Amino acid sequence: MKKSPLSSSVSLLVLTLSFSVSWAAVSSVLGVTPRSEDFISCVQYNSNNVTSISKLIFTPANASFLPSWQVAVQNLRFLKSTHKPSVIVTPVDETLIRTALFCAKKHGYEIRIRSGGHDAEGLSYTADVPFVMIDLTNMRSVDVNVAKRTAWVQGGATVGELYYTITQKSNTLFFPAGLCPGVGVGGHMGGGGYGNLMRKHGLAADNVVNVRFMDVNGNILNKKSMGKDLFWAIRGGGASSFGIVLAWKLRLVRVPKKSF
Ligand SMILES: Cc1cc2nc3c(=O)[nH]c(=O)nc-3n(C[C@H](O)[C@H](O)[C@H](O)COP(=O)(O)OP(=O)(O)OC[C@H]3O[C@@H](n4cnc5c(N)ncnc54)[C@H](O)[C@@H]3O)c2cc1C
Ligand SMILES: *[C@@H]1O[C@H](CO)[C@@H](O)[C@H](O)[C@H]1NC(C)=O
Ligand SMILES: *[C@@H]1O[C@H](CO)[C@@H](O)[C@H](O)[C@H]1NC(C)=O
Repeated sequence: MKKSPLSSSVSLLVLTLSFSVSWAAVSSVLGVTPRSEDFISCVQYNSNNVTSISKLIFTPANASFLPSWQVAVQNLRFLKSTHKPSVIVTPVDETLIRTALFCAKKHGYEIRIRSGGHDAEGLSYTADVPFVMIDLTNMRSVDVNVAKRTAWVQGGATVGELYYTITQKSNTLFFPAGLCPGVGVGGHMGGGGYGNLMRKHGLAADNVVNVRFMDVNGNILNKKSMGKDLFWAIRGGGASSFGIVLAWKLRLVRVPKKSF
């Protein structure tokens, strides 16, 4: 039987609600006051190299906390915001993302995920509840496969880095996304993403062919294992409503050869 549009939007709503409930209910269910010491001990306890981990975690006691937060506050009106993260985590791999997720839930923190920081409302780096900011700044690799006309791009890369890397490898391929090179692929493709090539090739999200995605329980899913509805929702519905985009797999499009 063919699903009616209404039933699919209802199931999306249920999906959205169930995710945000599990996401937000943590602190109220546990009834704990989040403390950054507890969060950090939890991360250390769950890591096999405390030395390397300590370089990736910032609290307001670290001199580099403020600069690390400010560097991608793209909407300057939030620079004076008091709603800063309690802890900033800058993972270099997926294991630390999963650990941060686990420890944030355990100790009553919400999570915010920052890619390029272009969110107009500062949703990736401010909140009026205690939160841990997972900043993907160290996870920004772009891996282009010219023969297959695809690219895997990690959640912390900018569209500018994506464009640059594609053009280093080919002068007849490109990717249809936004204009501002500093926009992050994490938020951009999660929200749709339009640009100059839109009329011919559609939105950035239309050209996402696969994903590495971490759900709220730390499971890593792809297009197939997450199912059609979630794959549809994270490409336009705001991926952070559902989990964390570790990387997108993109279909590159053919463009006329550069003549200069
Ligand atoms: C100067 C400027 C120019 C722009 N130009 C364009 C344009 O040409 N075309 C266009 O379509 N849009 C444009 N935008 C809008 C932009 O695409 C959106 O604001 C987009 O959400 C920004 O993504 P980001 O990763 O930089 O932002 P962020 O602030 O890092 O993230 C935005 C949202 O996505 C979430 N998020 C980020 N990374 C992830 C992840 N890995 N997994 C899950 N959720 C994640 C965040 O939590 C937040 O809710 C522009 C915005 C600005 C400020
Ligand atoms: C732990 O990390 C530090 C700093 O990154 C590194 O020098 C050291 O060799 C690592 N130790 C182990 C046991 O991997
Ligand atoms: C922050 O300060 C703590 C305590 O002094 C230290 O162990 C840690 O390495 C610092 N973090 C960074 C990223 O410098």
